Amino acid sequence: MPEISESTYLDGNVTQDTYYIETYGCQMNEHDSEKMSRMLEQMGFRPVSEAEQADVVIINTCSIREKAEHKVYSALGTLKSLKTKNPAMVTVVSGCVAQQERGRLLKKVQHLDAVVGTHRIADLPEIVERIRASRCRIERTEFSPDVKSLHLPGSVKNPAAVCSYVTIMQGCSNFCSYCVVPFTRGPEQSRPAAEIVKEVENLVEKGVREVTLLGQNVNAYGKDLNGRGAAHFASLLEKLEAIPRLQRIRFTTSHPRDFHEDLARAMSELKSVCEHIHLPLQTGSDRVLTAMKRGYTREQYFDKIRLLRTWIPDVAVTADIIVGFPGETEEDFELTMSALEQIRFDQIFSFKYSPRPGTLARTLPDQVPQNVKVENLARVHALQDAITQEYHRKAEGTVEEILVEGRRESGQWYGRTRRNKVANLESSHDLHAGDLVRVQIVRGLKHSLLAKEIDA
Ligand code: 5AD
Ligand code: SF4
Repeated sequence: MPEISESTYLDGNVTQDTYYIETYGCQMNEHDSEKMSRMLEQMGFRPVSEAEQADVVIINTCSIREKAEHKVYSALGTLKSLKTKNPAMVTVVSGCVAQQERGRLLKKVQHLDAVVGTHRIADLPEIVERIRASRCRIERTEFSPDVKSLHLPGSVKNPAAVCSYVTIMQGCSNFCSYCVVPFTRGPEQSRPAAEIVKEVENLVEKGVREVTLLGQNVNAYGKDLNGRGAAHFASLLEKLEAIPRLQRIRFTTSHPRDFHEDLARAMSELKSVCEHIHLPLQTGSDRVLTAMKRGYTREQYFDKIRLLRTWIPDVAVTADIIVGFPGETEEDFELTMSALEQIRFDQIFSFKYSPRPGTLARTLPDQVPQNVKVENLARVHALQDAITQEYHRKAEGTVEEILVEGRRESGQWYGRTRRNKVANLESSHDLHAGDLVRVQIVRGLKHSLLAKEIDA
């Protein structure tokens, strides 16, 4: 049994210690926050929905773009007044900004008690206890060749949760010239396959029916294991496929350079592996791809999409796109637009290039003016919105399988199709989270599908 830590107030009431975590950025960060929640809950803390009510406040940060980093500083501003009102509150910054700024953050932000780097979140219980015992300030940001938190499961917050993240690797060794991740998360480290299988089995035991395997570069999984439980990604998928009652396996993010036929084949042959891949293109211009150090050409990327669609004709493909990389000309940008038109992604996430500390691209000449970035991003949005809407409209009348995730206040059920489209569902009878239902798509909306149950 975990030890319950309690604070006894003067009036004799015993109250449980509380925590609040604010999370910025990607799914990896969301999952790290789940791991921190689990550790704090094992110490006896309970979550609260307002930082103001918490004994421990953690800001789990992202620094992938400048805007994400700015949000962190504004959250830290708010934290200052809370800490002034309640000096006993423990304040922690974790995640990529913590890793990037290290001790500088403690110097800059006097109301901060701890800076916990991306390899150090497993140290959180000890850090919190030390601060509460001696009011010291702690910087814990060293990288480690064996990241302990990689092996930690997350918490399934909602007991009825049917979808869960599972970390399979952490870090990235690619050093794309614009990206801060290799600096903030360290080199690729894969988790042994047996450990991943065990965690997924445990999750399924608790009712989880869909897992999303997480890593910066999942299809490079196992490359770094050198025989220590080594497996490559497709064979990891095979192992997970064998788990009874696990209905769906998703994974993100894949790198086009490490995408080969064995993965396309596995996606086609393994029943639980969903027909969706997130395969960031970044730009359609070879000149810019080279400057980004992406390791593939436009034509090679197109070949991989053709290969994928040969194995899985109706596969959903999503991607990330960056506009305004240094030196990008109108001609380069047009190549991105034509790539979007030719490939016809189901959905994309598009970003204005943002110079990041320590990266090569930051030092490149010909930074693109902000107004050009804004304009080009709007053009990308307009084109992609039209493509996405066309996919959704074409889906009308088709039959899909939906994994029910929950019910909205409106009474509608919601879930996702295997191709990862959000669907809202009308049903004449009661459904449960975890049900797999056959539906017909009634309407394709801008961001979602409206479905009705068939053969109920
Ligand atoms: N500027 C803009 N977008 C970036 N990304 C990564 N670094 C930057 C940057 N410096 C985007 C890439 C990546 C996604 C997670 O974030 O498109 O795939
Ligand atoms: Fe960043 Fe490139 Fe690694 Fe993705 S593959 S995390 S863009 S360095």
